[in-house]
Amino acid sequence: MPETKSEITSESRSETTSENSVDAPHEQALRPHAEDSFAHELKALAAADDRPRPERWRLSPWAVATYLLGGTLADGTVITPKYVGPRRIVEVAVTTLATDRALLLLGVPGTAKTWVSEHLAAAVSGDSTLLVQGTAGTPEEAIRYGWNYAQLLANGPSREALVPSPVMRAMSQGMTARVEELTRIPADVQDTLITVLSEKTLPVPELGQEVQAVRGFNLIATANDRDRGVNDLSSALRRRFNTVVLPLPATPEEEVDIVSRRVEQIGRSLDLPDAPEGLDEIRRVVTVFRELRDGLTTDGRTKVKSPSGTLSTAEAISVVTNGLALAAHFGDGVLRPGDVAAGILGAVVRDPAADRVVWQEYLEAVVRERDGWKDFYRACREVSA
Ligand SMILES: Nc1ncnc2c1ncn2[C@@H]1O[C@H](COP(=O)(O)OP(=O)(O)OP(=O)(O)O)[C@@H](O)[C@H]1O
Ligand SMILES: [Mg+2]
Repeated sequence: MPETKSEITSESRSETTSENSVDAPHEQALRPHAEDSFAHELKALAAADDRPRPERWRLSPWAVATYLLGGTLADGTVITPKYVGPRRIVEVAVTTLATDRALLLLGVPGTAKTWVSEHLAAAVSGDSTLLVQGTAGTPEEAIRYGWNYAQLLANGPSREALVPSPVMRAMSQGMTARVEELTRIPADVQDTLITVLSEKTLPVPELGQEVQAVRGFNLIATANDRDRGVNDLSSALRRRFNTVVLPLPATPEEEVDIVSRRVEQIGRSLDLPDAPEGLDEIRRVVTVFRELRDGLTTDGRTKVKSPSGTLSTAEAISVVTNGLALAAHFGDGVLRPGDVAAGILGAVVRDPAADRVVWQEYLEAVVRERDGWKDFYRACREVSA
């Protein structure tokens, strides 16, 4: 049925882009897509890249990995690191996308699964927007296709009345589709993906046709293994994926590096002033989060209880960003203990009873005794009262 393919293929990206840009030109978007924010890096990489590219890939696997991990090109262009972590993880993820197996990014909340998925799609296909957001209410149509009901009622089922899902568009255009939070999707709806991933086709029985995936198509799914109310991934579906587990940052330095980079980027997009002396506070937030997460102080001497929240790197980033906004609007622009204390309290105390006890114990046993942490202790006491 080659005819089907070409008809549905004609649903081109330019159409989606112009649609989106009517709503928000990407220079004005609050959060531009990765391919727009880092367009100059992607362009420089494409120009410098002389390695073989899999069909319909914008870059070679090497260049995609460089885009994610950062580096300096021969022409001097600096590629900023997007993902900070083991190189091998990125290499395995990129390589998977060049095979016939899909990629599943798994990990606890806030380990950059969504972030990595977006950047991979941007680098491989130049488009990270072919996205299905998984929820408990995600219907099959979100993965397969839906109908334009006005057209359907007027003219019956036809190609014009068919509304392709992001997955269907990715298949017909040979692009990367993304499914966020795969395990939140009800099991029977998840199973829709089995045919897509193993047969590389999506039947449209109403039209007696099918959409076949063209070369270049692949899919990245993310799932976290911590949240409640989550459906299992059926083993049939799991076998269609290569699973890559994203770890928490290995060392405090790595985590401080991740937080400062992201805070700087986010701060710039919110027009917050730079906080040259903010690094001390970032270190402190990261230390508190890691110690509470690990149940042990950095020096390995004191055991502490862990609260119920995840205290992820992502939460550390938002605590510091909020602190910077406080410092900018109500302080002297320098990030101080008082600007992050309330944010830390909010992240730690999720369960008002149990977590509050954990926090008080940590404050008194660890924070109070630590050299140079007097101001921070006082600020925390103030907001905890
Ligand atoms: N190792 C890392 N390298 C770079 N950025 C990181 C890293 N870990 C976390 N981040 C940052 O944390 C933020 C949150 O990440 P993201 O939303 O992708 O997490 P997630 O794993 O999808 O979490 P969730 O399970 O809650 O959906 C991003 O801004 C990302 O930049
Ligand atoms: Mg996510």
